[in-house]
Amino acid sequence: MANLNTKYLGLELKSPVVIGASNMVTKPETMKKLEENGAGAIVYKSLFEEQIQLENLEQSETMEEFEDRNPEMLSVFPDVEHAGPKDHLNEFKKAKELINIPLIASINAIYIKSWIDYAKQFEQAGADALELNFYAVPRDFNISAFDIEQEQIDILKAVKKAVRIPVSVKISSFYTNILHVVKQMDNAGADGIVIFNRLFEPDISTEDQKHITPLNLSNDDEYRLSLRYSGILYKNINADIIGSQGVYEGEDIAKLILAGSDSVQAVSTFYVNKPEHLKKMLDDLSEWMKIKGYKSLDDFRGKLSRKNIKDYKIYKRAQYVDLLMHAEDVFKKYRMP
Ligand SMILES: Cc1cc2nc3c(=O)[nH]c(=O)nc-3n(C[C@H](O)[C@H](O)[C@H](O)COP(=O)(O)O)c2cc1C
Repeated sequence: MANLNTKYLGLELKSPVVIGASNMVTKPETMKKLEENGAGAIVYKSLFEEQIQLENLEQSETMEEFEDRNPEMLSVFPDVEHAGPKDHLNEFKKAKELINIPLIASINAIYIKSWIDYAKQFEQAGADALELNFYAVPRDFNISAFDIEQEQIDILKAVKKAVRIPVSVKISSFYTNILHVVKQMDNAGADGIVIFNRLFEPDISTEDQKHITPLNLSNDDEYRLSLRYSGILYKNINADIIGSQGVYEGEDIAKLILAGSDSVQAVSTFYVNKPEHLKKMLDDLSEWMKIKGYKSLDDFRGKLSRKNIKDYKIYKRAQYVDLLMHAEDVFKKYRMP
């Protein structure tokens, strides 16, 4: 077995697979199974301020204000019980006692004061690190990209000031210039950048002519966006690069680390293939490393990053032009008509 140890936000992990936040990790038996099958760490389901506020609010007027801000929350996580921060923190503490790998708390708040308060409370509850879940979709026609980004940077700075544990940010891919945003978060002291969160997209049933809430799992080829940005970010930021979205197999982990990820987060694969699949992912990664003669993840991390490859086109738009100019060869290779 190759050495799969790695560092994550300064924490020592025994494998590069961190279980991303989801409802799955609120179940003690699932958390235990993931630990037994080799998880490096677990990110606990996010504490969503809306959930708490909605539960506490009775005046419909104020209710509407919250629904306006984040209407997705209730439908994205329909089976999440509405729990106050105390309940969530208690569950978190129980989970922390249950497992022996790092447990990371995830926050998605509305007000800057809540981001700070929750961060402190999780630190006191024993969280090994914090993940700021910047889950947001634009809904106000009058707020600019700059304002949204600045608000996130301000939240990050305030949380970093308030706690001593490491703080990572989990961002979506919907920024005009991801590189600029990530660089600013890096400068603001982020210990890790999780690329990328998956935003909930509603669907419509044509039969009932109603909106429906699909589980919203990734497909198994979606890691490629993260692959691209891991490759570009490698050695350009101090924060850890955490590849995420569509990581289903051991081979995907190898690819992301080759590009420049420090570690990965995965969720959908465990819904589809069950938590036991993690062992196979790690065994496959280990076997591949053995075949290629790699003893540790450091031996190949970033080998195919933009810094380390000679072909300047790979990470540029020119790659697309290249594809257009040599389309015939590509179609032939994949036996397409
Ligand atoms: C059922 C479900 C619940 C989720 N809950 C959270 C959450 O509480 N906080 C969060 O940051 N991400 C949440 N996510 C997003 C995942 O953590 C992850 O970022 C996303 O699914 C992409 O990774 P994947 O392709 O491996 O699934 C959830 C995803 C699913 C499918």
